[in-house]
Formats: sequence, C-alpha cells, structure tokens
Amino acid sequence: MQAKLLTTKEQVREFVADARSKGSKIGLVPTMGAIHQGHQSLVRRALQEVDTVVCSVFVNPTQFSPTEDFDAYPRTLDNDLKLLGQAGAAAVFAPSVEEMYGPIMAQHIKEKGLVDFDFISHAVPGSASRLWEGQDRPHHFGGVTTVVSKLFNIVEPDVACFGEKDYQQLAVLRQMVADMDFNLKIIGCPIVREESGLAVSSRNRYMDDSERERALALSRSLREVRESFANGERGVKALEDAARKTMETQDIVIDYVAIVDATTLEPLSSLDGVDGKDARMIIAARVDKVRLIDNASLA
Ligand code: PAJ
Repeated sequence: MQAKLLTTKEQVREFVADARSKGSKIGLVPTMGAIHQGHQSLVRRALQEVDTVVCSVFVNPTQFSPTEDFDAYPRTLDNDLKLLGQAGAAAVFAPSVEEMYGPIMAQHIKEKGLVDFDFISHAVPGSASRLWEGQDRPHHFGGVTTVVSKLFNIVEPDVACFGEKDYQQLAVLRQMVADMDFNLKIIGCPIVREESGLAVSSRNRYMDDSERERALALSRSLREVRESFANGERGVKALEDAARKTMETQDIVIDYVAIVDATTLEPLSSLDGVDGKDARMIIAARVDKVRLIDNASLA
C-alpha cells in the first residue's frame, strides 16, 4: 500500500495523535528521499518495535554546503511513497523548506544559497561530530542535528531508526539524544549492500559500470581488514595502510581511512585489548567525481 502523504506539521501531529489513540507506538525513519533498499530496511526494522512508522522525505538544505549537490539531489516523491509504503510505512512527511524552517529562513536559503544558522535557533552537535565528515563538511552535522531535533519534536516517536551506513551521523545523533534527554530510543541498523559488496547509496547511480567495479575496493578493503583483525593483527597503522593500498590500486582518492572508537569516533592509537566490536573502520573516498563512504566493525 502507498504511504499516506503529509505535508504540514499539523497533519503529522493529527496523524500521530490518531494512531496513538488506537494504541499504536510510533516509529520514525528520517530520509532525504531517493528511496532504496537501505531506507526500506529501516522501515522494516522499526516495524519490529512499533505498529506505526512515519517516514520523512526532506532534502535538508541546512546540511549541505554551497559546493554540494543540494539542487541536484534526486527528488522522486511519487516513487518514494510507493517504496516506503511497500516496506510498511503508514505515512510520509514531505514538507516544503518553508514549512520546515519558516518563511524567513526559507527566503534566506533561496537568496543566499548558503545557510546562516544565526537566523534560527538550532542544535549544536557534540564531540562525535568533530572529526571526519565534520572536518570535511563544517556545517553538515549542525544541519543534521537541527533537522532531526525538529522531526523528533514534530513526530514525538518512541523509536527512530538510522543506518550504520552513515556511521558518524548515527553516533552524533546517539550523543545528541543522550546529551539532550530526548525521550526515544535510537536504533542503529546494519548497512544494506548489493551482492557485490557495494553499500547501497543514492549516489551509486552517478557511477558507470567501470567506476562501480573500482568502488568495490571500499567494501573489499573493509572485509580484508576484518579478516586481518580476526587473524590477530593489532597494528592500527598496518590495518589502515592495507585498506589504503587496496583502494589506491583502483585509483581511488582517499579522504580518510581510520580505525576509531565505535562510540566517540575518536581515532584509536592501539588495538591491544580492544574488543573488535568497540572499534570501527571508517572510510570516505572518491571514485572520480563520486564521493563514497563505508565502514565496518572490526568484530
Ligand atoms: P539519507 O541519506 O536519505 O539516509 C536516510 C537514512 O537511511 C540514514 O539513516 C542512512 O544511514 C540510511 N541508509 C542509507 N543507505 C543505507 C544502507 N545502504 N543501509 C542501511 N541504511 C542506509 O541520512 C540522511 O538521509 C539525512 O542526513 C537525515 C538523517 C534524513 C537528516 O536530513
């Protein structure tokens, strides 16, 4: 069944109140649309916990920098409603920028392109946002925490599902929920991959066959590192260098490769005595013009 389209905050509040009055618990799955199997898996996971799942489809301008693909980001709402409905979502909140951020901020975004947060009250992300994506994209996590806080306040869900695909985002949001006492449970969901190993992403469509083939080096390097760790290798540099080498032989330009603490996202200098499930290898790399991210637990 197609999910019910809601475009205003008021409609969402009415829909949620009605579901609650019938005894439903509420799950939230935030997305930017261009729905694929990764997003659908989050809906299915939420349905293991609650009866009613509300998704959002909103290309959030405040988390893009001016050089990023905000205007080019795929917008496919009809298909998104169908795919989210198939996965079992009851409703999809797809607001305009004006509905989400108010007229003054919407006008500002239209005129300036660049987002000046001073216009609105906003959420400031914690220490998990400092490195990696936070360093390469300074406004990014401020935009994510702001829009996700707003969604939490609009929907007031019991649970919210996020993918491990964006591992740092998940860590930043977990920290925000703990630091700010949001009354909900965050569920981190495993990365959905193609059979080849490539992590499913809306950006994969920008790659041709040969680039996709080269992109497999990301997931391959993660598999190799896990294997190496299982075989007793504990050198952080040795593991990171091995991953680098696997990718560089495919002419992939690496933004970062790091082994980090799975909760704080701080780099680990040693793996001695560290349980593999507490350590994560995270990668950001470019196959020609397409920037990809991937990660895996060492356990
Ligand atoms: P988006 O990139 O659309 O992703 C929405 C959710 O789907 C995120 O939690 C992401 O981690 C998850 N996801 C994407 N690909 C996945 C895959 N292959 N396997 C499992 N989960 C996957 O992330 C965002 O949107 C935005 O930053 C958002 C949180 C919606 C705030 O604007």
